[in-house]
Amino acid sequence: MSPITFTLAQTAQPDWQQAALASDLAVILVGRTGDDASALQLPDGLPQALASQITTQLAQRDFEGKSGEILPLGQPTGSAFRELLAVGLGTTDKLTAGQVQQLGQQLGKSLTPRQGQAHVLIGNLPQAMQAPFVLALLNSGYQFNDFKSKKSPPKLASVQLYGASAVPLDFLQAVHEGQSLARNLGNMPPNLCHPEYMAETAQQLAQTYPDQLSVDVLGMEQMVELGMNAFLAVAKGSERPGRLITLNYRGAGDDSAPVVLVGKGITFDTGGISIKPAAGMDEMKFDMSGAASVLGVMQALCRAKLPINVVGALACAENMPSGHASRPGDIVTTMDGKTVEILNTDAEGRLVLCDTLTYIRRFNPAVVVDVATLTGACVVALGKVVSGLFTPDNELAQELIDAGLQSHDRVWRMPVLEDYQELLDSPFADMGNIGGPTAGSVTAACFLARFTEGLRWAHLDIAGTANLSGPNKGSTGRPVPLLMQFLHNRLQPENQPN
Ligand code: BES
Ligand code: MN
Ligand code: ZN
Repeated sequence: MSPITFTLAQTAQPDWQQAALASDLAVILVGRTGDDASALQLPDGLPQALASQITTQLAQRDFEGKSGEILPLGQPTGSAFRELLAVGLGTTDKLTAGQVQQLGQQLGKSLTPRQGQAHVLIGNLPQAMQAPFVLALLNSGYQFNDFKSKKSPPKLASVQLYGASAVPLDFLQAVHEGQSLARNLGNMPPNLCHPEYMAETAQQLAQTYPDQLSVDVLGMEQMVELGMNAFLAVAKGSERPGRLITLNYRGAGDDSAPVVLVGKGITFDTGGISIKPAAGMDEMKFDMSGAASVLGVMQALCRAKLPINVVGALACAENMPSGHASRPGDIVTTMDGKTVEILNTDAEGRLVLCDTLTYIRRFNPAVVVDVATLTGACVVALGKVVSGLFTPDNELAQELIDAGLQSHDRVWRMPVLEDYQELLDSPFADMGNIGGPTAGSVTAACFLARFTEGLRWAHLDIAGTANLSGPNKGSTGRPVPLLMQFLHNRLQPENQPN
């Protein structure tokens, strides 16, 4: 969790003379109007002498105002601050939310541990970009040290933001903390983060917020009673029992129909009997990222006290090969009575999800959004930039696309057309659990669509966006920002906190 504390100042900029700021750092964002450095734009309203001093210094030091350029300017004369930092914004009218997000992260990482505060002036950022900037700054302090003997030192102690006209800081703090919870769970090793651990974490969360959140955990026996044989076909291959965890957040103060969020929680995906190749298999610990992000959202909701009803359902199991595991060719009857031929045990996500989607009908959802690291094909199609959005519902699609743009946690719509359904035909059962070699992420969504008839439903395939690989390997906590924005946008206007 980030050790940095953030506060919002009510003024556009600090009192530059105030002696109490003598050990602190001031940060200004410097844009430019054209493609060259001839017209640098300092924040409005700087004291005249300070502004001309900065302008001279920037020119002398060849500061071009390029996006991500960071230049320490030493102690500004006639001001109390220990140091002033200029951060390039790039050409102001070409500024994108992506650049601004990167800038927030870069700035956060460049702030070295020192005694003082950082005073960051963000008044010259376009309003729509202030929140993504601040969230990135908050997230830049994230560290996952739990399994290192030597911990790296914490970052700067605190940040004051000035000129933040469009920043709901409490909401962003809640999003950041929820996102950090999702990242912690994703980054945990799969020997420790198993279905029972996910259940314990959910129960702890409900204990922390007893007035807002209740939790219910189904074990294997209860799933047998409910006829959740697709879910069980995955869970039974592991020594670790599966868990279906539901969290009920009653924020609306009435009985309005909840938004139901469903998360794929495969705490490790070996592929089962259809076992995966060894290379990179460790990354299959991230296969519970959907469930982790839903839990992160539940925490953020409690923290932000959003007036809305939301149910989170975490479908947790471990996909292992064993004497108890499902075989290719096995046929199971799902909770809603359809039969599925398990042609590939590595297509396990849709098996735990289909029964969970049936189970959550009891909550009479207003809308259902499932979140899953569902297919490698989605990574091939979209990479790590956007999450795949699948829904037959145009209005719901637009809501999620808009929330993605606002939070800069973006999605891209993919088809869920009837034409693809025949790819799931099986000679022996109502359907197979895989389509052919083409359109893998679409046929996975089409499989889920068969279990969501009559519901307003969208599916997010986060196989590419849930985690980074390579030197920056680790959980991203996506799509917590997207889902929180989506839920925020669904509040009645008079209820909106900010
Ligand atoms: N968890 C994987 C999907 C995945 C792959 C996530 C790569 C992240 C990175 C999923 O359970 C899976 O194995 N899907 C199969 C489906 C196939 C057997 C139809 C896949 O994508 O290969
Ligand atoms: Mn799999
Ligand atoms: Zn999987």
